[in-house]
Amino acid sequence: MVLGHVIDEADTISALAITSSKLKLGTYTILEYDGYRVLGLITKVSRGSPLLNGSIRDPDAAERISNMRSNSSLKFPEYTTVRVKLLCNLNDPDLLQPDLPPPPGTPLREPTDDELSQVFSNGDLRLGKLVGSDTEVRIRLRYLTRHLAILAATGSGKSNTVAVLSQRISELGGAVVIFDYHGEYSTSTMKNINPIQPKLNPLRLTAREFATFINIRENAFVQYRILRSIWNSFKESLEKEKKEGEMKLPSSAQEFVERLKSLVETQSESGKKGSKDTVAEVLNKLEDFADTYSSIVDFNAKDVVDQLKLGQVNVVDLINLDEEAMEALVSHYLRRILENGKLTKSAKLRGESHNFFPVVVVLEEAHVFLPRGGSTLVKFWASKVAREGRKFGVSLVIVSQRPKGLDDNILSQMTNKIVLKIVEPTDKRYILESSDNLSEDLVEQLSSLNTGQAIVVGKIVSIPAILQVDKFDGILGGSDPDILGDWRRAREERESTLQVGRRISQIGDL
Ligand SMILES: Nc1ncnc2c1ncn2[C@@H]1O[C@H](COP(=O)(O)OP(=O)(O)O)[C@@H](O)[C@H]1O
Ligand SMILES: [Mg+2]
Repeated sequence: MVLGHVIDEADTISALAITSSKLKLGTYTILEYDGYRVLGLITKVSRGSPLLNGSIRDPDAAERISNMRSNSSLKFPEYTTVRVKLLCNLNDPDLLQPDLPPPPGTPLREPTDDELSQVFSNGDLRLGKLVGSDTEVRIRLRYLTRHLAILAATGSGKSNTVAVLSQRISELGGAVVIFDYHGEYSTSTMKNINPIQPKLNPLRLTAREFATFINIRENAFVQYRILRSIWNSFKESLEKEKKEGEMKLPSSAQEFVERLKSLVETQSESGKKGSKDTVAEVLNKLEDFADTYSSIVDFNAKDVVDQLKLGQVNVVDLINLDEEAMEALVSHYLRRILENGKLTKSAKLRGESHNFFPVVVVLEEAHVFLPRGGSTLVKFWASKVAREGRKFGVSLVIVSQRPKGLDDNILSQMTNKIVLKIVEPTDKRYILESSDNLSEDLVEQLSSLNTGQAIVVGKIVSIPAILQVDKFDGILGGSDPDILGDWRRAREERESTLQVGRRISQIGDL
């Protein structure tokens, strides 16, 4: 059925059309001309009547003309004009944008289900449905290595999107690692969860990494030399113990630091290293290390890459860690995952086997770890993953409700984006500036999205899509708190404790 016709001059990006149908905003249409079959999206709708145009200055005349509408024997002349954004040529195997504009008079028709599926359902993983349609939106996982940012205001559906994505990747046999800032995934009913204890084995740290954790700056050469020297002697002493058959690993961060401190003292007594002040400084920093990182230091912890499981959602629960410990842990894990990706690649090139596999790493509350300005260790490793991960099968997914607080360099390297509702103008502008494939008209729509509705751009989709993300069919730990229910439960608990107390005191009276 013909819905309308192109009028006025069109270009290869958009066309104006006139119609008597009630075409709605955000719906799709097809324009066929000169061998092209172009899918268009309606981005603007206006209605008018030549009898009541903007030049009318007589209110009585306007009323008399308007009364014609209720007179069924007269046909009231009315029209709708629509702005159609030309998305892609369906006759082109690469679904490129048309390079010839539609001529005036080109008819508009409804797309068939097959035509919509050809564009939106050609991926491997279902994320949801096109808004206002039953067409599935499926994403192409091979392009996830170009990384992904999931951005939206709080409560708009980011965690739900992460849960749907992770669960389905694991069902397809892939591996996801979620850094679970709020402990919402580890306490969820997601299938295939492999919990990973947030532990850091100091033996796997490089001297430089260790120096950064204890706040020895890049330019503090003497402090670094002292630390590197005791760090190496400590490792040598363990090696020696191992050879002798009785390796005594420190059982806590405190014990570890005590052993390092005694090494500093022996070395400074023998007059080898640094002035008194510098040595004292290093000792202080070691003590701070024991205080700050006692929750995550574990000399028996397995390497994170040996704990990752294929076909599972590997969840690292960060909820009980303070910011410094989180920072240390996330940066160290990112480094190990990237390094293993590299080893796998070079082993593959040499025809050797290696038991590491591609991994999708999800970083929740990314603005905390990757802030704009300033340099953090997580930022260093995340940038490296963003730059090099693609070659080594490591994809990064960053999730944030404060896009403008994110490092712009990293954000612009997340070439795929799933953006849910955002109202804040500076956030919208910032996202627009950091994305080549997100146009202004799409960003405009962000404020009017409902919960779970999202715009997807980037190579994971053939063309930008506005979709309703599926609802995760389970429970996430971080859903909006049931505040009334919590009050009622607290009251009931208190009442039952009081009753027990009363009963006990009655027994006492007997
Ligand atoms: N696609 C969706 N369909 C239906 N409900 C959703 C959808 N996405 C989120 N919700 C609901 O909205 C609420 C907030 O979602 P959540 O994913 O926690 O948001 P965010 O992580 O952005 O703060 C939850 O109660 C969730 O169940
Ligand atoms: Mg969330």
